[in-house]
Parts: sequence; C-alpha cells; structure tokens
Amino acid sequence: MAVTVRFLGHAAFALEAEGKQVVIDPFLTGNPMAAAKPEDLNPVAILLTHAHDDHVGDSVAISKRTGAPIIATFELGTYLARQGAETIAANHGGTVTFDGGSVKLVPAWHTSSHTEQFLAPGVPAGLVVRFGGKTMYFAGDTCLFGDMALIGEEGLDLAVVPIGDFYTMGPADAVKAVKLLKPSVVIPCHYNTFPVIEVDAQAFAKKLMREAGIDCTVLAVGESISF
Ligand code: NI
Ligand code: MN
Repeated sequence: MAVTVRFLGHAAFALEAEGKQVVIDPFLTGNPMAAAKPEDLNPVAILLTHAHDDHVGDSVAISKRTGAPIIATFELGTYLARQGAETIAANHGGTVTFDGGSVKLVPAWHTSSHTEQFLAPGVPAGLVVRFGGKTMYFAGDTCLFGDMALIGEEGLDLAVVPIGDFYTMGPADAVKAVKLLKPSVVIPCHYNTFPVIEVDAQAFAKKLMREAGIDCTVLAVGESISF
C-alpha cells in the first residue's frame, strides 16, 4: 500500500490512500502560501494538532460541508462541536479510528489558544497517523522534548517537523528531534509562511543528512511525495 502526502502550505497536509483523503491542520483561508481551497478538499477525517488559527483554519467549514469528523484533544473537539462541526474529542495516549486508518494523540510542547475570544481550549497534541499502510508522525507546533524517543518507537515511516523557530523548534533542535524519532523520511513544515519564521529548509535538509544520515524531502507548497 502507498500513501501520497501533499503539502498544502504552512502545517497543512492532505494524505491520500486507496481513494480516501485525510486532512491535517487545514489553514487555507488567509494562508499566504495555501496550495488548495477548502472546497477542493473532501476528507474522511480532519486531524488537528491544536487551537491556534494557523492550524484550525478552515476545519469547521470543511467538516460542515463534508460531514468529516474533526479529531482533536478533548477541549478543542468539544469547542468546535459547539460551532457545528462533527468532532471526536479524545486525548493524549488515545487512538481514534477513522475510515481507512487511525490517529494516536501524543504530547506536544506548545500553547493552544483560540484568538476569537482568547480562550485556550485544552492543550496541543502531536499525531501518530496510521493510514495507507504507513506510520506517520505530525509533530504539530512543538519544541524539542526527550519523549520524542518514545514516539520514535512507533516505527515511523515519516516525520513531519516544524523548523521555523520563534513559535516552534528551529532547525538545530529539529535535527536533534529527528535523531530521537528515527523516521525513514522527514518533511519540514511551519517555516517561511511569515517573515518571523523564515529559515533555509535546504540547509536543514543538508545538516540532517550530514549529522543523522536521514533523508529530508523539502516539499514546495502544493508538492507531494508518495511512498
Ligand atoms: Ni501554534
Ligand atoms: Mn502554528
């Protein structure tokens, strides 16, 4: 089985396998680097890492249109259900199944406020996604933390890590993160969308190969890989 991972810009991804699509952190409207419109997406599930606007994005509108459930940590899932979305509100350590796969919510070190009313519905998560016969880790917004070694024990075909610095780990800590995660392939995200998170992703890829011998695929916005 194969899965296609398409970078929609910032931290948004679409996964496709066997005719089914899963969407992660679909921040498209208002994203200066979005590769898709929300109405182009027809997912079976929408997976969210946390409540920040650059991650929740268009998820409520996509859920309302398609009926796809938003899977998130408990407070965020409950909060978005009150906005009319279909949600599955789980929590860290729990695995939620969806049509064609599953997601396990794992810790992430970050904050998780929603700016509309400036409330903080719960805490952020990383996502261990099993779909298309592959195991993929989406770190979400996070700093480096030692328990990434435990997440690495899931046997990761892919790790998607933020490298933009300022709001998340930067390239140097992301290299350390990948050494703990030991994935087959790395995709960087959460960089260059805004001036404050501008970094050289190719330099990160070279450093990762040199220091860890791990292959990093830098996807242009809209580009995809299949594996
Ligand atoms: Ni964030
Ligand atoms: Mn973010």
